[in-house]
Amino acid sequence: MTVLVVGAGGRLGSEFMDRLASLDDLTGLTHVQCDITDSLAVERAVLGLQPTVVINCAAQSSIDACEKDRDQAYRINVLGARNVAHAAYKVAAKVVHISTDYVFDGTADHAYVEWDTSNPINWYGRTKLMSEEAVRRANPDSLVLRIAYVYGAHGDNPVTAVVRAAQAGTPLTLPDDQVMSPTSASEIVQQTMLSSSAAPSGPTTLPGRARPPGTTSPAPSRRPSAWTFSLSPCMPPTSPAASRAPCGLRSRTSTCAWSVRT
Ligand SMILES: NC(=O)c1ccc[n+]([C@@H]2O[C@H](COP(=O)([O-])OP(=O)(O)OC[C@H]3O[C@@H](n4cnc5c(N)ncnc54)[C@H](OP(=O)(O)O)[C@@H]3O)[C@@H](O)[C@H]2O)c1
Repeated sequence: MTVLVVGAGGRLGSEFMDRLASLDDLTGLTHVQCDITDSLAVERAVLGLQPTVVINCAAQSSIDACEKDRDQAYRINVLGARNVAHAAYKVAAKVVHISTDYVFDGTADHAYVEWDTSNPINWYGRTKLMSEEAVRRANPDSLVLRIAYVYGAHGDNPVTAVVRAAQAGTPLTLPDDQVMSPTSASEIVQQTMLSSSAAPSGPTTLPGRARPPGTTSPAPSRRPSAWTFSLSPCMPPTSPAASRAPCGLRSRTSTCAWSVRT
């Protein structure tokens, strides 16, 4: 398997690069090395490397930045994703596209699954939903993963923020009005590789085995996070969600995936 990761310098892209380092044929391209909004650059890179799997971790992932510059968010999240999928199609490679629970509006009283109706309520979620369709159209051999609230070794996330605060004994303010399903970055890598080689067809749901216990909100998740890392949980203040863009309050998911292969 020859794997190309685009957006390799981001939180999830870095996790893919770390976890797949033992592969003989792994290439990671960062934003500087390959801008996915530049279709010719993407095509040049993919045609040159001839990968069998292309994993797209590049995105404008900031909800507030998407709201602030909607055109740019569309260019990266929709047109960029299409460029990557199309280039993969040209070399008969599978494309793995990372999407989000933000395609839902957060009002369901159950954990979201593939066949729930999407209804994004912010521009980030809208671009990611449009990206799913753009990717499927550009490359029938595509795996679309909807993930949520990723925690891993790279970058900031509420789980590691809790661990750091507990280690330092410092207070931490977290939203107490959101419920979500944290997903382990390493599990995303593992399940992506399993799904890529198994080539399933039709909707697939990936189990979230490595999540902290239960579906949770960032505030209560302080306890499981601290327990997992053998720390004594501090109980800092909590507050409503701080994002300026509208956010769904309930985004519990069974981590969802679609795989389509002709
Ligand atoms: N983290 C989460 O909790 C979460 C949850 C659900 C879904 N996701 C999805 O998972 C994927 C990875 O997210 P992440 O958390 O790893 O985000 P991230 O840390 O923000 O990484 C995104 C990467 O994309 C790069 N990038 C931005 N514009 C680009 C462009 N035009 N061309 C090439 N690269 C570009 C960024 O580079 P620069 O920083 O240099 O611009 C960054 O390295 C995204 O599709 C995101 O929507 C993440």
